Amino acid sequence: MQRDMAERQPEARPDRLILSEGERQALEKRMGAELFAKRLDLEENREKRLGGLVRWCPMKYAGPAANAAFRISGLWKRAHREFLDIRVREEEFLLPGLAPELDGFTILHLSDLHLDLSADLVPALSEALGRVAWRYDLACATGDFNNFTVHDDLVALDLVSSLRDAFTAPVLGCLGNHDSLRDVPTLERSGYRILLNESVRVQRRGAAPGDPSLLVAGVDDPNIFGTHDLGAALAARVGGEPAVLLAHAPSVHAEAAARGVSLVLCGHVHGGQICLKSGRTLAWKHWSFPRRVWRGRWTEGPTQGYTTTGVGACGAPLRLNCPPELVLVRLSARRR
Ligand SMILES: [Fe+2]
Repeated sequence: MQRDMAERQPEARPDRLILSEGERQALEKRMGAELFAKRLDLEENREKRLGGLVRWCPMKYAGPAANAAFRISGLWKRAHREFLDIRVREEEFLLPGLAPELDGFTILHLSDLHLDLSADLVPALSEALGRVAWRYDLACATGDFNNFTVHDDLVALDLVSSLRDAFTAPVLGCLGNHDSLRDVPTLERSGYRILLNESVRVQRRGAAPGDPSLLVAGVDDPNIFGTHDLGAALAARVGGEPAVLLAHAPSVHAEAAARGVSLVLCGHVHGGQICLKSGRTLAWKHWSFPRRVWRGRWTEGPTQGYTTTGVGACGAPLRLNCPPELVLVRLSARRR
């Protein structure tokens, strides 16, 4: 069942998306007053103020246009099948300084769910999560839970909430440019811990209190909102201990390297979503970061990164030569 975007009209904001005074204060404290105010201001005025977003991701027009073009060309069914064909990918990263007890720590990385684009995706994602069940110590979702940027509705959040039981480990996340700060209380009540320029320490499954833990930091959207703060996110890091950074987009690559982050997990680009047979995206520009960090593994100085093609899609529920993926990221303490 595909939802027609033209039918989605902004409605009165549901109670669950109105921040209570207590929630506002808590989010402001976590994010810092300046970035909290900047995020909310940009959200409230995003159509006016984020002209760039509307220009480069003109979903109101590009989605229906892409759907029409694919139907006319006879490729729609094939591209929709690929959109639902979620692959499982495994990647190993050597993290210098990682405690031997954390050797093999596995993160399930997923990104860009855009769950309100197509209800067909939820069963496909549930099935894919079943394939990786119990194979990871932690799941990390790097933003864009929503597809609709003006999303005063709860469609995506209710679908995300319905998926929580399909995860077999704690789930951390960060917000993308399609998400709102107002989503955070609902997401967290559903069991997703969102990192707003913050960090947490995570132990392996079955670890005892006092066993080594991994520092996982997460920043707010660095690409469109620009409300990321790596300094705050990494403030709890002790010395040069390994740190994994969650960010929606790879635009943090240079700053992450300057701060000696071990591994960046990110998404946003969707691998281009519509690609040539060679895998090369048809997108010719529009991201403020180099093509080498658009998809897959990359390095920047001491920092390794992985930019996933993501799970969902933007604008239209279609992918071509760019399948969606879940990534099992295995951390290694020694060279094998
Ligand atoms: Fe996205």
